[in-house]
Amino acid sequence: MKKQIKDFDLKGKKVIIRCDFNVPMEDGKITDNTRIKSSLKTIRYAVNHGGKVILLSHLGRIKEDKDKEKYSLKLVSDELSKLLKKKVKFINKTKGKEVENAVKQMKEKEIILLENTRFEDLDGKKESKNDKELGKYWANLGDIFINDAFGTIHRNHASNVGIASNLPSGLGMLVNKEIKVLNKLLKNPKKPYVIVLGGAKVSDKLDLIKNLVKKADYILIGGGMAFTFLKAAGFSIGSSLLEKDKLSECQKLLDEYPEKIILPIDIITSDKISNDAKTHLRFINEIEEDEMGLDIGVGTIKVFKQYLEDSKTIFWNGPMGCFEYKPFEEGTKSLCEIIANTDAYKVIGGGDTISAVTKFGFEDKMDHLSTGGGASLTYLEGKKLEALDIIDEKE
Ligand code: 3PG
Repeated sequence: MKKQIKDFDLKGKKVIIRCDFNVPMEDGKITDNTRIKSSLKTIRYAVNHGGKVILLSHLGRIKEDKDKEKYSLKLVSDELSKLLKKKVKFINKTKGKEVENAVKQMKEKEIILLENTRFEDLDGKKESKNDKELGKYWANLGDIFINDAFGTIHRNHASNVGIASNLPSGLGMLVNKEIKVLNKLLKNPKKPYVIVLGGAKVSDKLDLIKNLVKKADYILIGGGMAFTFLKAAGFSIGSSLLEKDKLSECQKLLDEYPEKIILPIDIITSDKISNDAKTHLRFINEIEEDEMGLDIGVGTIKVFKQYLEDSKTIFWNGPMGCFEYKPFEEGTKSLCEIIANTDAYKVIGGGDTISAVTKFGFEDKMDHLSTGGGASLTYLEGKKLEALDIIDEKE
């Protein structure tokens, strides 16, 4: 079992906490602060136990110098101060004298946030490629390392794996909770266990299907990814999304698990994706050459409902259609409502699915909204999470 923040005496110690403050921003404003809110518990714990708290996070992907302005963590530090009702001192550097002096002067219960760790990517991708010296440098700033950045736990960065290699380490409360939930889905899900998958790319979900198909009772497939499966099943899909190179894998899964993998029976089509698009409801054997499938149809919603109603565990990742546009929102909206009203243990993963659940007002009805899309998929695919594995084990 991995060490937890609660296993350390934090009093007077410099506690580096890696958070995932990679939040969406638009026009200089944070548009969704869920990830910041999710980090509060661990930060408060460290403060209340007398730690000197040094926060690190990445934000966006930094490719050129001009990305620095857009992806500064300054706004995050303001939001964090507001939510914690406590000053968070922002140091607009990732390393150097200013950082070192600020750390040296820290008193118990104070919090500082350093600038975006990925600014170091401008110098030979040092953060993203886990440069040894950079990890060591950051580790030297603290006494204890706590990883609470669940969204980044599938990455091998200097600010997670690198620091953990050089300091006593443990997990924060968010990572602990997320892993517990995912272990439930992997190890002992209550049955019937239904997985709902959607989103654009089938290639993103094939490893997950392969790893979970034996554990799940049913996998309901909608969204853009359904069309490669439908094509593999022999249907004409018009100009809908298709990943040709994945046809044979989809075919194989359909042959092996015909009773478990449930595909749409009807869909909403159009020739364009916009709010004034003219739509048609088509059975899947009626899609015309110039039409794209952009949502699941009413018949499919009914079929999916039958599987979901009696389930005891549901994992949902990926919207059923282009729900951002009114003409194609019904499938995703209906699934939100159907899932919310079941008695199942309900876990939602992936940024788009969480946006949908929040947009349609069902977030409070779900048991768990994961803060890591890529991270939760990687874990459910049965793959290694290096930033988790490196954390110290309890003695
Ligand atoms: C995420 O948003 O999925 C995490 O913060 C990781 O970000 P990345 O995909 O840019 O590594």
